[in-house]
Amino acid sequence: MSNQEIKRYTVTAALPYANGPVHIGHLAGVYVPADIYVRYLRSNDQDVAFVCGSDEHGMAITLRAKKDGVSPQQVVDKYHSIIKDSFEKFGVSFDIYSRTSSKTHHETSSEIFKEMFEKGLFDEKKSLQYYDEENKQFLADRYIIGTCPNCSFDNAYGDQCEKCGTSLSPSELINPRSALSGAKPTKKETRHWYLPMDKYEGWLKKWILQDHKEWKANVYGQCKSWLDNGLLPRAMTRDLDWGVKVPVKGADGKVLYVWFDAPIGYISATKEWAEKENKEWEPYWKDKDTKLVHFIGKDNIVFHCIIFPTILKANGGYILPDNVPANEFLNLEGNKISTSKNWAVWLHEYLEEFPGKEDVLRYALCTNAPETKDNDFTWKDFQARNNNELVAIFGNFINRALVLTHKYYDGKVPTREKLFDIDEKVLEKVKKAPAKISKSIENFRFREAMTEFIEVARVGNKYLADTEPWKLIKEDEERVKTIMNIALQIVANLSVMGQPFLPKTVEKLNAILGIVQAKWNMGGQDNLLSSGHQINKAELLFSKIEDAEVQTQIDKLEATKKENEMESTPITPVKSEIVYDDFMKMDMRVGTILEAESIPKSKKLLKLKVDTGIDKRTVLSGIAQYFSAEEVVGKQVTILVNLAPRKIMGEESQGMILMAEDKEGNLKFLQPSDSVNPGTTIS
Ligand code: MF3
Ligand code: ZN
Repeated sequence: MSNQEIKRYTVTAALPYANGPVHIGHLAGVYVPADIYVRYLRSNDQDVAFVCGSDEHGMAITLRAKKDGVSPQQVVDKYHSIIKDSFEKFGVSFDIYSRTSSKTHHETSSEIFKEMFEKGLFDEKKSLQYYDEENKQFLADRYIIGTCPNCSFDNAYGDQCEKCGTSLSPSELINPRSALSGAKPTKKETRHWYLPMDKYEGWLKKWILQDHKEWKANVYGQCKSWLDNGLLPRAMTRDLDWGVKVPVKGADGKVLYVWFDAPIGYISATKEWAEKENKEWEPYWKDKDTKLVHFIGKDNIVFHCIIFPTILKANGGYILPDNVPANEFLNLEGNKISTSKNWAVWLHEYLEEFPGKEDVLRYALCTNAPETKDNDFTWKDFQARNNNELVAIFGNFINRALVLTHKYYDGKVPTREKLFDIDEKVLEKVKKAPAKISKSIENFRFREAMTEFIEVARVGNKYLADTEPWKLIKEDEERVKTIMNIALQIVANLSVMGQPFLPKTVEKLNAILGIVQAKWNMGGQDNLLSSGHQINKAELLFSKIEDAEVQTQIDKLEATKKENEMESTPITPVKSEIVYDDFMKMDMRVGTILEAESIPKSKKLLKLKVDTGIDKRTVLSGIAQYFSAEEVVGKQVTILVNLAPRKIMGEESQGMILMAEDKEGNLKFLQPSDSVNPGTTIS
């Protein structure tokens, strides 16, 4: 760090909804950058609280519970543990991973609401809201679905049509229905407590637009557009039975708005952590010298830059975020990641399918992080980053340095002699690296930081390739000692500088080098390993990922795509109603196909002779693409015998064979479950 004065930091990472597992989009957008930042701060001896936890309230949870036919508690218990486990395995080094169902959180958020209520900071208002009579529940706009008035998509949400992108209000939907029960929503009066956001607009404009011009352009831009459009009062309570109960008289059946309670989860988690660690939590939220940093995705910007700061400000006594380095979105193989469409790489699955390769994903996601715009993750790129960078440069360099040290010096660091120009240049580059990386990290440019870090390995790799100690060893043993000493100092530097980025790999490397993790300020030095220091046997830090492995992943996604396409094929609409007599007009019987021949000019038609029990008649049937003439002879079929004869391609067809047709247009015969006499009637 630029100066070594110790500061206090509260670093938060968005609380993921416990309604599903976490995927690569989460890791790339929020948790890898946050973890790099925090590991870097700790390596600089800063005082950090890195807090996170599961967001367990809100409709996201109750809807999932409904879909799965389980209780909300079961949903959050299940996903909380999957999510927590994935983060741990990827080395995301939270000081605490809590959950908003915890007692401390219910108390903390309830208390903050109550204080605000007592200070008169909310406006109480009555309004009409959509209501599901069947479920006896109020519905947020998002939970009303219906046909889009713009594009006729029949699953548009009450706030937006995801097909054509039009923003909507529930009253515009054709045939609105509740996403919970399918019932037609009614309107019902309700009462809520609103935070008058409009009253804070002036203050927010100054605080963000004037005082935080240094925020990332995507974050600043979104804030500006919200503020320019004008803020409206926002209800901080909801009619729902899942969440933190509203701690006010006469508020039965109401809970805190999930976006009121969830960010307070950061405070609750800090309290829980402080208690465990025997520390005070207040300085992390109330001391004006503490730096508060929120890591989030772009869909969370308004909540972290505008609403939560307003809550903190209104309360008084709390610090406000110093920075909110939100990222854009990561797509997967060209398409938006979607939990409901299963279009994702799930972390818990990756961990099973690529054991020991946690850092590979951290690396691939960081170098390709959606820092300034949406980005795409592809398995080919993932493979290339591993094979061409981690294996061919980073791994190769370290392995060469270690193997040669064992070969020439029994694993003891050789002594350095006279330095040549090439040595000095290399050492100079290494010396400058930490400051560059620091600057990038401190400015939340993690892709750049990662690239600068890998550049150190590249410099080392090139140094060995240029000096070729394996050739020189026969001519100039002294010179080789110097080269190997320098190469090993670079390896040790990779441990110092790599720890925030590739924590698991660096842990292994430290074990091989026989060193303890050095702090950041040791980075750049040329004497991290003293002469004579014994290093352990080398082991490969990264291994090649084969084409077949990524192909398996691509195939998996292809299969998902196929499934989704099938599901999204519209269901054939139901025909208009008929009465019993209409049905009884049809004379359907079981017939047996006696003969079949193809029709020369038609690809589709077969000419069939059918025994109907009444007669033996000719029927033309459009089944030639699915059945050969030979294979249909002898089959029992359903035939509509009283259909008026029709001429098709010059031949008269007397009746119609009934077929079942699936979404892809494949045809199947309708047959009795046991064979019956021709002429058997169907009704
Ligand atoms: N659960 C939210 C999401 O996944 C994020 C909540 S962040 C918090 O989008 F600040 F509210 F906790
Ligand atoms: Zn639409």
